[in-house]
This record gives sequence, C-alpha cells and structure tokens, in this order.
Amino acid sequence: MIRDLTDSEARRALPAKWGMADPDVIPAWVAEMDYALAPPISEALLDAVRAGRTGYPAFDGGGPLGEAYAAFADRQFGHQVDPDQVLPVVDVTAGVRVALDVLSSPGPMVMPVPAYHPQLRIAEITGRQRADLVLDPDAQHAGLDLDRLDRLFADGARTLLLTQPHNPWGRAFTRAELEGVRDVVVRHRARVISDEIHAPLVLPGAEQVPYLSIEGTADHAVALVAASKAFNIAGLKCAQIVTADPATRDRLLDIPYARNDSWSSLGVTASVAAYTHGDNWLAALITRLDQQRTLLAQLLAEHLPEARMRPLEATYLAWIDLRAYGYDDPAAALLDKGRVWVNPGHDYHPGLPGHIRLNIATSPARLTEIVTRMARTLPA
Ligand SMILES: Cc1ncc(COP(=O)(O)O)c(C=O)c1O
Repeated sequence: MIRDLTDSEARRALPAKWGMADPDVIPAWVAEMDYALAPPISEALLDAVRAGRTGYPAFDGGGPLGEAYAAFADRQFGHQVDPDQVLPVVDVTAGVRVALDVLSSPGPMVMPVPAYHPQLRIAEITGRQRADLVLDPDAQHAGLDLDRLDRLFADGARTLLLTQPHNPWGRAFTRAELEGVRDVVVRHRARVISDEIHAPLVLPGAEQVPYLSIEGTADHAVALVAASKAFNIAGLKCAQIVTADPATRDRLLDIPYARNDSWSSLGVTASVAAYTHGDNWLAALITRLDQQRTLLAQLLAEHLPEARMRPLEATYLAWIDLRAYGYDDPAAALLDKGRVWVNPGHDYHPGLPGHIRLNIATSPARLTEIVTRMARTLPA
C-alpha cells in the first residue's frame, strides 16, 4: 500500500526536498516522505479539481473539516473533540504564531531545545523573548525538565510551546509527563500551545496523548494539528487550531481576517479525505516507518558504531549524535563529500556541534545507501 517514488517521480512531487537537491545528492532533510500520495487523497483532489473547487474555503470553524478531524482524533487517539472547536489555519507554524499573539500575555515563551528550527524565532516575531528549556545532549532519556520549567515560569515566562510528539527529540511524551507539565503550568497560571503535527506518526511501543485530553488543560491550552506530515500534503496549506473551551475559540474567531493568512480549499479537501479515508494507508505507513527505524539501527550498528541515538518513538526524523566522529558540522561534510542532504543539528540547537537530523521516510534501498555514504564520509 505504501508505494516508493522513483527518483524522477520524487523530483516532480517534492519541489523542495528533491527539487532543491543536486541530481547526485540523496535528500533526507525536510520532513516530507518519498512515498506516493494515499489513493483516497489523490482521488479527492482530482474530483475537486474536475469540479473546479478552487474558490475561497469556508471561513468558519467546524464544518466538514471539524467533523472529519474530530472523528479521526476519536479513532486514532481516543480523544473527544467538539467539531465546532476545530478552526482552520494556513499552517501549523502560522497557527502557533496566531495563538501566541492572540491568547498569551507578553512575557517570554518557553521553548524546549533542540526545537523545530523555523519556530525558534516565533517568540521574537511576536515581540516576546525566548526562554530555552535545554535538553542535555548527553541525557540518556529525553525528558522535559519540570524543575527548570517551574523556574522559567517563576522568572516571568507566560507560555510553553510544547511539541507533542517532539521533533527532533523523537519522543511521544507520556500521560504522566504531560500531567507533570500541566501541574507546573496551572501553578503559574501560564498557557500551553501544543504543536501536535506529528501526532499520527507515533510508532509501535509508544502512544499519542493529546495535551488537551489531559484533565484541567481546556482553559489554558490550544493544540495545532494537521494531516500534512503524516499524509505528505504540506504544500496544500491547511492546518487546524483545536480549542477546548468556547471563550478561547471565540477569541480566535474574532481576530481580524488579515491576521490569519487563509488556508486553501484543496488543503481542506485533502485533509478531509485523509482524516476520513486514510486510516488503512496510515497503518501501512506506520508499519513501513517501524521497519525503517529497525533498519536504521542495524545500519548504524554495522557502519557507524560510534553514532548515538535515543529510541525513536514517533516521527520519521532521527536525531543522531555523531560527535564521536569529530566533525563540528557533520551535515556539511555529508553534503559536500557524501552527497547526502541531512539537517545540521545546530539549526535545532544553536551552538550544538556534531548532530544531524536524518529523515528515514524513504525506501529501504535509499536508507541503506544514505548510511553507506555517511560511513564512507565520516570516519575519514
Ligand atoms: C514540530 C513541527 N511543527 C511544524 C512543522 C511545520 O508545519 P507547517 O508547515 O504546517 O508550518 C513541522 C515540520 O516539519 C514540525 O516538525
């Protein structure tokens, strides 16, 4: 059910990931997958184009998109969402910015670091300071330091930007961990914005717990969700802000139109199709990604035994510590000599040497070639 794109198909389908790479480079950077679209999504898009559905999308919350997401969240995560509390937004990062701007008071925003790097400047563009909650690169377990979170709030921070599951930590935080976060946040009457774009991508052995499914979070949190990462439709521009109390929803619906860059009609079509008819394809995808993470572990053990990686619980983005190989910027060497494009770790954790983020959502053959090229490049 998961069909690998050939190189030339991938170059046409993924203009950033493949289109920006030189022909001899294997791209394993931006979070897109080298797989063909799920058939229910391509069929829904073709039908929409044939029907000329290229006008403005409906402006209100709820509707078919709200219904489709609520049903998906119930089936996938056992989370009850009111469809009317699902508000469209152009993409997740814009939704984080809008939520921060509209709902949070002006104090600093706490950012767990390493972080999805385009969001590292989101505090600044909303006129806030960033307060980093830094994960020790040598920690065996990637956990949120609640004592430090408590101190950051005590020092004036007002909002936590949570990423659940986390890119690039690869963690799906447990219910107990999230309850711990909730307790600290409530103690300081602070807010949470929970970026859950990777929620459908939790791998066997872990579980997705939506932050809003934790008791006592409705009045201080919103979640940002999207079908984009799990179904490869990021270019269609449609994400959703999920609220859980009417007052928060009304504040978001009241914002001037110019503040929320509008989402796209075809994005709504694709998202509704993914949420409604995508479960079987998603199950096959999870099986494939589970196989890819096993393959990656085998390849690293065989070819790059000094590489260090914490367990990948969710996402298709592996965070790999290559400090033992002595390169400050292994991603630069891998591109230059190995002809493999991975993301440099210092983009996600400024100042951190020796780490990369590797996208494993490709074919077993390409992943094998990627690690083989890495092994030829690094130990030199
Ligand atoms: C945690 C996280 N949030 C947001 C995004 C980007 O989403 P969007 O394109 O909807 O802003 C990504 C992309 O990989 C991501 O990993």
